[in-house]
Amino acid sequence: MNVLVTGGAGFIGSNFVRMLLEESGDRVINLDLLTYAGNLINLAEYEDDPRYRFVRGDIRDRDLVRKVLADEKIEAVVHFAAESHVDRSVEGPEIFILTNVLGTEILLEECRAAGVNRFVMVSTDEVYGSLGDEGHFVENTPLAPNSPYAASKASADLLCRSFFKTFDFPVVITRCSNNYGPYQFPEKLIPLMIAGALEDRPLPVYGDGRNVRDWLYVGDHCRAVDLVLRRGVPGEVYNIGGCNEMRNLDLVEMLVDKLGKSRDLITFVKDRPGHDLRYAIDATKIIEELGWKPQVDFQAGLDLTVEWYLEHRTWWEEIRSGEYTSYYEKMYGADGRHTANGKS
Ligand code: NAD
Ligand code: TYD
Repeated sequence: MNVLVTGGAGFIGSNFVRMLLEESGDRVINLDLLTYAGNLINLAEYEDDPRYRFVRGDIRDRDLVRKVLADEKIEAVVHFAAESHVDRSVEGPEIFILTNVLGTEILLEECRAAGVNRFVMVSTDEVYGSLGDEGHFVENTPLAPNSPYAASKASADLLCRSFFKTFDFPVVITRCSNNYGPYQFPEKLIPLMIAGALEDRPLPVYGDGRNVRDWLYVGDHCRAVDLVLRRGVPGEVYNIGGCNEMRNLDLVEMLVDKLGKSRDLITFVKDRPGHDLRYAIDATKIIEELGWKPQVDFQAGLDLTVEWYLEHRTWWEEIRSGEYTSYYEKMYGADGRHTANGKS
């Protein structure tokens, strides 16, 4: 199958592309704009793989999207590309609307016109808003997003629904909880805390640290998306969660302890505006209907993640220094026209 992965140079996308190339016979086209969050080094070992092609481009570029779909005879799309960080959406919501809403709409229109027969929308549990101390999100929990990021994802998620209802376009939607694991950009909680602790910097915990997230190992998430790609029912939504709730402060203490650093590095800072208290996913549907379940337990997943960041210090140091952006220019030329495998 010819699969277009959008946002394949980001955290989850690059883990997903790697999984497809390692474990399926699919041909993978990775369309990614390489914003600050996209890093081609994540997939450097596949640059010469004939089953893989990287295209630098914007999902809002209708002509480019149309050309890629036609040239590569794309049969299925897995849509990860997005602005993904809540704090950035508080600082500047506009790009979230442009990329996440308009970008998804353009992609949907072009995929429909091209006759793509499977479109997986990678949405988020943040579309449901916040839980109190009790309860879990199920697929028909009403959407009540609280941050501009979550609102833009909810809009994209609903556009996908509308393309199924109105045009019978075969969209399947996934809503997952917080991912962690290798290649996560060090602005997100877990890698930020690992990198900060290794550099003995203050570790900023928002508010009182009692907010709860449901952590999902990225490899488990990728397997779930792959199942939905192959076996998900068009028009359906599948929640994907780690069944693993943790308070932020407990998590940060755990990381500091694993790294042998002092808990005195933990610093309580001003809370994020509109900070959702708790996310928790009920993943019964994907477990019962598609036979998925998370395989990596949280302690093992955290150990793997800490190990990875210890072994890949250059990766995150280059990101933190901004040096990583020069890789694309070095490999593919500054004009952005060249793609992997020497094609242009
Ligand atoms: P990320 O920020 O690491 O990667 C996003 C990728 O999209 C980057 O490579 C970036 O260059 C690319 N991109 C951004 N704008 C683009 C555009 N206009 N055209 C083409 N490419 C563009 O994000 P991530 O954490 O890997 O998340 C991937 C998807 O999963 C997102 O849709 C996100 O909303 C969703 N999600 C993530 C999490 C999580 O915990 N990380 C949880 C739930 C849902
Ligand atoms: P984050 O990784 O930004 O994911 P999301 O906001 O999408 O859940 O944050 C996870 C949790 O950690 C969230 O409750 C906010 C909190 N947090 C901090 O306490 N300090 C930080 O520096 C960051 C980035 C997040």
